[in-house]
Amino acid sequence: MKWTYDSIPDLKGKVIIVTGSNSGIGFHKARYFAKNNALVVMGVRSLERGKTAADKIISEFPNAKIDILQLDLNDSVSIKSFSTEFHKKYKQLDVLVNNAGIMTTPYNSTKDGFESQIGVNHFGHFLLTSLLFDVLKKTKSSRIVNTASIAHRFGSLDKESFMYQEGKKYNKSKAYAQSKLANLLFTYKLASLVEENNLDILVTASHPGISQTDLGRHIRGSFFMNFGMWVIGFARQSGEKGSLPGLRASTDKSVLNKDYYGPRGLYNTKGYPNLQKAKKKAHSKELQDLLWDESLRLTKATYDFI
Ligand SMILES: NC(=O)c1ccc[n+]([C@@H]2O[C@H](COP(=O)([O-])OP(=O)(O)OC[C@H]3O[C@@H](n4cnc5c(N)ncnc54)[C@H](OP(=O)(O)O)[C@@H]3O)[C@@H](O)[C@H]2O)c1
Repeated sequence: MKWTYDSIPDLKGKVIIVTGSNSGIGFHKARYFAKNNALVVMGVRSLERGKTAADKIISEFPNAKIDILQLDLNDSVSIKSFSTEFHKKYKQLDVLVNNAGIMTTPYNSTKDGFESQIGVNHFGHFLLTSLLFDVLKKTKSSRIVNTASIAHRFGSLDKESFMYQEGKKYNKSKAYAQSKLANLLFTYKLASLVEENNLDILVTASHPGISQTDLGRHIRGSFFMNFGMWVIGFARQSGEKGSLPGLRASTDKSVLNKDYYGPRGLYNTKGYPNLQKAKKKAHSKELQDLLWDESLRLTKATYDFI
């Protein structure tokens, strides 16, 4: 059975946060949540780009309920003020979609000194999730949906690289793959803790296969890279179609804790969403614990399971 746009249930009364929802896959997730009557909180780093995206959704669905809050996952101060604003306005959070991401960027570090890719893609979302955990616990049957990638298959975890200092060896593809492996290690570790503590929260993940968005802008450049991107072009699907696995993980009633959704076709690069198998290393307890402990230590986040 195909799980498609029409499979999304009515979301009236639900409050859903989507990080990085002014463009790409996040935009389409926000668009379909809003179409199906959820109140969507767009976590965006530029309020102006967020408003342009929200206006587009409202012009298509005039009854869409959308709020736009500033969120820069590059900066713990911004993450904390996003959480404070959210707590002031809302008493429930049905789904937290940790979607924002950057890929193969030139070396840079976040305001808190993390290498940028693991900083934005993992540490930023780790801190954000901890700050919203109280509301997620209070909300009946809430969900956390992290956004991984096929690239996790090539990832390895090297804690020495979490806070790369410029000048040390930096490999932008390795750094991306590590950050996407981290998204899955975090998903499985948090899901286990939620289970052990009998909390009414599902922790899941999704990946969009290869979808046409602006994510690959730092890949282009050399002739060989451009040629590679041209070849990949045949495998890729639209950003809209790429939003389906995340929409399924966020809304399908049959979803279980630790489920991981992605496209079912052409080596999981495109197609309608089904359950995916993450690589064995994503299930490694040792790596999960290493990442969890380092994430707590470096972000100073706390998770209260009681
Ligand atoms: N496209 C694919 O084929 C593919 C494949 C596997 C996984 N993914 C994953 O899918 C997710 C969405 O990617 P996409 O393809 O939709 O890329 P995209 O079009 O580049 O969108 C990324 C979004 O993340 C936001 N973002 C970046 N840095 C941020 C920060 N510091 N704070 C807050 N938001 C930030 C961007 O905001 P700005 O507009 O302000 O930059 C943008 O809205 C990512 O996690 C990516 O790793 C994508």
